[in-house]
Amino acid sequence: MLEGKKFFIQTFGCQMNLNDSEHVASLLLQEGAHQADTPEKCEIILINTCAVREKSVEKLFSYLGRLKEHKANRGSIIVCLGCVAQLYREKLLSKFPYLDLVVGPAQYQELPLLLSDSFRQRAAITRWTKGWVELPIMAVVRESQVSAYITIMEGCNNFCTFCVVPFTRGREKYRPLSAIQEEARQLAESGFLEIQLLGQNVNSYRDPESGAGLAELLKKISEINQIQWIRFLTSHPRNFSFEMALAMASSPKVCHQLHLPVQSGSNQVLARMNRNYSREDYLEKISWLKSLMPDISLSTDIIVGFPGETDDDFQQTLELVDQVQYTNIFSFRYSPRPLTRAASFKDDVPAEVKIERLIELQKRQKEIQLKVNGEMLGQKQKVLALGQSKKGNLYTGRNEAYQVVNFSSRRELTPGFVEVKIVGGGAYSLKGEAVC
Ligand code: SAH
Ligand code: SF4
Ligand code: F3S
Repeated sequence: MLEGKKFFIQTFGCQMNLNDSEHVASLLLQEGAHQADTPEKCEIILINTCAVREKSVEKLFSYLGRLKEHKANRGSIIVCLGCVAQLYREKLLSKFPYLDLVVGPAQYQELPLLLSDSFRQRAAITRWTKGWVELPIMAVVRESQVSAYITIMEGCNNFCTFCVVPFTRGREKYRPLSAIQEEARQLAESGFLEIQLLGQNVNSYRDPESGAGLAELLKKISEINQIQWIRFLTSHPRNFSFEMALAMASSPKVCHQLHLPVQSGSNQVLARMNRNYSREDYLEKISWLKSLMPDISLSTDIIVGFPGETDDDFQQTLELVDQVQYTNIFSFRYSPRPLTRAASFKDDVPAEVKIERLIELQKRQKEIQLKVNGEMLGQKQKVLALGQSKKGNLYTGRNEAYQVVNFSSRRELTPGFVEVKIVGGGAYSLKGEAVC
């Protein structure tokens, strides 16, 4: 039906969107369409969108604005996918009269039909589903040949007061363990070495058939011979149990690396965010993790300038960052999001104070990263080489801590594991030499 048509996908947002885009592309390729690297000569342009922060939506709107001319010149079909599609639905069609389709995450399997000549009409298709929607079995064309994402659950029941995700991805839906195992087995047979299990709240995963949880799932994936590294994200600190820390520590394939978003170091702020844990609970979990896995690499998300955040609250966040010594943090200025509870709170931290706090936090974290990375000089690390680096004649890969390692090699390498001696680096990446 889409035989010979050229399409282009632009992806914004998180790993789940990246993974969804690879699946959407594969669905269209299966119908005979061809994927292009730029939108210029394409009959179909798809944009997979993120609604998590105000800036994400502003970026999308300016991207959509630029497509107007494209539509006028080439008449391409323009399709909006993802979280903004689900959140704004018909409103997007009226704001951008040259958009053809708005399709939510639970309806991607309908895309080949929606894009076919027999169906084509302007519409917003954004129904909710209660249970997991399994896409047809197909060979997914992935960006990497060695590292793959597998979505294990979607949606969130937590309703943090700042977060729009429960309104874009709906309530939690869990993928059957058997389907996850089958996808992992197929990936292993095609040469994949690393699996990253994805979900908005992976620690609440329950197999709809047997009730097995994430620890059991990790065990099952570990049994697949060829898979050597397993990661999972995102973990909500409230649902991260001591049993999970034990499961991580006792499986040789589960990487000693964890993204555990704290959002704030102040109990007052955490309570207003409805995070359901205290600073003390969080730090207790960090201390289990460090005692079970002294080499663990931790990362986090932090919001600065949440309504009512005082200087003292912010100092507590800085102190927590000093105490935990994260390998990496993702930090954001708070922005109110539609439908969330915090949108009705007074957004009372002035914009310039939010910026000052963000700069201070990032400066403090940069010092930590420079120190931590400096201590790695001379170490030999196992690195998953992903391909050529954009800079110079180097290769690029990631170590177990999920840090970027750019390295030279005397012999030509294909993607896969390689031992690398760390010879330098800054706060955000490491430099090395392959040990041949
Ligand atoms: N499921 C993940 C987070 C998904 S959103 C979790 O539970 O942690 C990714 C990050 O975006 C969040 O961790 C938070 O730090 C940030 N974020 C979400 N909503 C935001 C908002 N309204 N303003 C600023 N940052 C926000
Ligand atoms: Fe959003 Fe909170 Fe759910 Fe994460 S846990 S997706 S921050 S509501
Ligand atoms: Fe963004 Fe949706 Fe992911 S809002 S962060 S693309 S779940």
